[in-house]
Amino acid sequence: MTVRTVLRMGDPRLLQKSERVEHIPDPWIDELVRDMFDTMEALNGAGLAAPQIGVLRRVVIFGVEANPRYPDAEPVPTTVLINPRIEPLGDDREYGWEGCLSVPGMRGLVPRATRIRYTGMDPKGSVIEREAAGFHARVVQHEVDHIDGVLYPMRIEDMRHFGFESELFPESAGDRD
Ligand code: NI
Repeated sequence: MTVRTVLRMGDPRLLQKSERVEHIPDPWIDELVRDMFDTMEALNGAGLAAPQIGVLRRVVIFGVEANPRYPDAEPVPTTVLINPRIEPLGDDREYGWEGCLSVPGMRGLVPRATRIRYTGMDPKGSVIEREAAGFHARVVQHEVDHIDGVLYPMRIEDMRHFGFESELFPESAGDRD
């Protein structure tokens, strides 16, 4: 069990474009992914990208289990995605509140494509190809942004909709990042 330090906004590594992974499978990928899950679960995150723990490679993880405490949070399959690509399906966008383990305690209202197709590889080298909508699509777009050096506050259109979770949502403080 290795919970790694999560870099926080202001660290220049979070603004870099991460490198593609050329050889899959590889033992270093398995080790990285284990550390990423340990870290995400310890901090109650919905997703994590390798650069958030200082590894500038195109690897992201995400997953949200059905939780009776948050009946509105749709479950998202637990997934490791290497060298991901996203294609929006249609022009629809929707706004949703996001948080990030690299921006602790904050929430912002971010527009994202409502429906996407995403592809990538799993750590065994099998192709993943899925269509997703809503919260699932949002989580994938947020994580893939990380490997391109984009943090969600950079996508907020109206900065009045950015603030501390404890002030914005006094009843739900302590929700996941
Ligand atoms: Ni994030």
